Amino acid sequence: PRVIFILGGPGSGKGTQSEKLVKRFGATHLSAGDLLRAEQATDSSDSQLIKSYIAEGKIVPVEITCRLLNRAMQEVAAKSPDRSQVFLIDGFPRNIENLRGWEEVVGEKAVISLVLFFDCPEEVMQQRLLERGKTSGRADDNIVSIKKRFVTFKEETIPVVQQLEVGRF
Ligand code: C5P
Ligand code: MG
Repeated sequence: PRVIFILGGPGSGKGTQSEKLVKRFGATHLSAGDLLRAEQATDSSDSQLIKSYIAEGKIVPVEITCRLLNRAMQEVAAKSPDRSQVFLIDGFPRNIENLRGWEEVVGEKAVISLVLFFDCPEEVMQQRLLERGKTSGRADDNIVSIKKRFVTFKEETIPVVQQLEVGRF
């Protein structure tokens, strides 16, 4: 399988654009955030941890996120054993640890074809997230969590984007 990573700040449109890309080009869209929220909603042993990390805008330990991504990819592969499968993975890798974890868990089993980065001004992202928060029901679409997510984005995600940009992965 080939993988396209979709990165960008919170509210930059990763999910929205991924859906559009998938409609047009027919890949499989996997959102790391959606997978974490789904796992949190179950009664799994990681629920509480995921919940607090998301509310704090922190990056969940990669063992959990990679396990969920890996499982989702296996499920798709089992349904349609098409070796040319393309996965659009949105919101991953969010930090260096995410990237290292991917290399360990998935590594040679998939090819990273492309990384898309959506560059969007913070004021625009904040406005969108506050607007979304009116109806999203998400625990992190409030101003306190949004500010924390912006800090995490700048401190942890930007460095990984810079690494990917120069092809060191
Ligand atoms: O991408 P999304 O905005 O849906 O992510 C929501 C939250 O999920 C992030 O702020 C973070 O707490 C968590 N997350 C994570 N690791 C990822 C993707 C999302 O910890 N790779
Ligand atoms: Mg999203």
